[in-house]
Amino acid sequence: MRTHYCGKLRKEHIGETVTLYGWVDRYRDHGGVTFLDLRDRSGLVQIVSDPQRTPDSYQQSNLLRNEYVVAITGRVTQRPEESLNPRIPTGEVEIYADKIELLNGIRKQLPFQVATGNNDPVREDLRLKYRYLDLRRERMAQNMQLRHQVVKAMRRYLEDNEGFIEIETPVLTRSTPEGARDYILPSRVNEGEWFALPQSPQLFKQLLMVSGMDRYYQVARCFRDEDLRADRQPEFTQLDMEMSFMSENEIIELNEKLVCHIFKTVKGIDLPHPFPRLTYKDAMNKYGSDKPDTRYGLELVDVSDLLKDSGFKVFKDAISKGGIVKILPIPNGNDAISNVRIKPKGDIFGQAAEAGAKGLAYIRVRENGELDTIGAIKDNLTPEQKQEILTRTGAKPGHLLLFAADDTGIVNKTLDRLRQFVAREFNLIPEGKNNFLWITDFPMFEWNADEKRLEALHHPFTAPHPDDLGDLKTARAQAYDLVLNGFEVGGGSLRIYQREIQEQVFEAIGLSPEEAQSKFGFLLEAFEYGTPPHGGIAYGVDRLVMLLAEEESIRDVIAFPKTQQARCLLTDAPANVDAKQLKELHVASTFKPKVKE
Ligand code: AMO
Repeated sequence: MRTHYCGKLRKEHIGETVTLYGWVDRYRDHGGVTFLDLRDRSGLVQIVSDPQRTPDSYQQSNLLRNEYVVAITGRVTQRPEESLNPRIPTGEVEIYADKIELLNGIRKQLPFQVATGNNDPVREDLRLKYRYLDLRRERMAQNMQLRHQVVKAMRRYLEDNEGFIEIETPVLTRSTPEGARDYILPSRVNEGEWFALPQSPQLFKQLLMVSGMDRYYQVARCFRDEDLRADRQPEFTQLDMEMSFMSENEIIELNEKLVCHIFKTVKGIDLPHPFPRLTYKDAMNKYGSDKPDTRYGLELVDVSDLLKDSGFKVFKDAISKGGIVKILPIPNGNDAISNVRIKPKGDIFGQAAEAGAKGLAYIRVRENGELDTIGAIKDNLTPEQKQEILTRTGAKPGHLLLFAADDTGIVNKTLDRLRQFVAREFNLIPEGKNNFLWITDFPMFEWNADEKRLEALHHPFTAPHPDDLGDLKTARAQAYDLVLNGFEVGGGSLRIYQREIQEQVFEAIGLSPEEAQSKFGFLLEAFEYGTPPHGGIAYGVDRLVMLLAEEESIRDVIAFPKTQQARCLLTDAPANVDAKQLKELHVASTFKPKVKE
């Protein structure tokens, strides 16, 4: 029986006889004495086999190689002064092995090194294909444990301090529209009909409130067939919560306490709170984003009112078509960012173009305070306009002012992107900061230009602001997102709990009464049986853990993630199924594989 985990042995264990199980992390022979690092998921400890003191284990140790699986029994001993290793937690002790038992060896060459301290970069496709080996590596083993600690802290806090109970909701369900495509599954017994995997437990958690299961939570797996990025996976985990009889403010406050508890328990960090709050409108104005990174300044400045009659046609046209002109002021940007970089083919221009901008105008503030512009912008600003631009942006000598003029969406997207680009390039992002921020007062709807209809910005079950019921189309929603360092880590809202309002919202997003009835009749009906006012939130657990682990991809905090192409390289899923299975499911594929030339 194991008595201890390797990484947990300390000075206080000296003199004890311990039995350890694990993998040989490294093996070396020093003048006839063998040293091996034994590793398990907790870390490693040094094992010594000495032909004089432990002859039996010495014989055995000579047969060992990296990644062999062994059981070791031995005495915990103080390391001699010269071999103390302060870099590892077990660095004050070593184990004199009385017995080493080889449990299993390895028969193939490892596809990459897993030994602790080996930081050679490994191709991600190899790491994903051999994920079981990748997870042996120190960094990944730590990430998995951190994730476990985070979820444990969530559960503990919600259950012990706030009286939440965990309830599971179905995974085979109807689709809940949350903006992404559904993963769907054919039903064998209900011919021709389909289940959808949940994009979130949204409707079930609302129905749980109707049932009186106030204060529900669930660590829930969600499925969304959407384009993947570093912070998105097709299957991901939410901490999903719903509660009745609480105001928006009360929900926000409870959640701040939860987040503070997580950071304190897992990282020992005391987060300053209450967290700042910013309305959606202010966030878009200042940062061009509803999930701004507030660890650095670089705030945007709107000059549309100032330049609406400007002689510069690009500005004037953009504004007359209902668009805006905004500036990203970059302190000391003048020297660092040459004209070539801002012009077509330049990297700054490239960033803007990817956000949809057609060009970037700019002004440089020279060291003597003079403004330096080129092209049409030069001759088309009055001295008063120039002065006002300087005043509003607070520009000083050395500043570069980048202008974007277009429709509001493109301007914001462009300058948000450039803001982040510049912050990284100029090293403006301070380390060790956790800037939480609530974004509130989202609009209920946004215009979907492709489908030519309004769509819900969050989801159609979000309650409109009571002051805005007169015109639902322009109403604010009682919704709130939680942002950490530029990532949306959570989002929620108060919900509609009256049938009439829910029907009006369905109508606003273009659902006919018949469609609303066929898709959501069960919800509308539930609202007629005494539904309490309720609201909730869901956190992206993977994203939160990614930020806590200071990783750049959520794949690094998920045991078995999918690639950006939504594949599992380990099992090679998705894969074909045989014709018999398809027949049973009444499914025929229209897919025609490309014929090889
Ligand atoms: P929302 O769609 O904002 O809200 O999702 C909540 C949080 O889940 C995380 N998230 C993701 N994480 C990884 N991969 C993805 N593909 C992905 N999509 C979302 C984000 C996000 O903030 N039902 C509502 C919640 C509610 O209103 O209570 C919902 O799902 O961190």
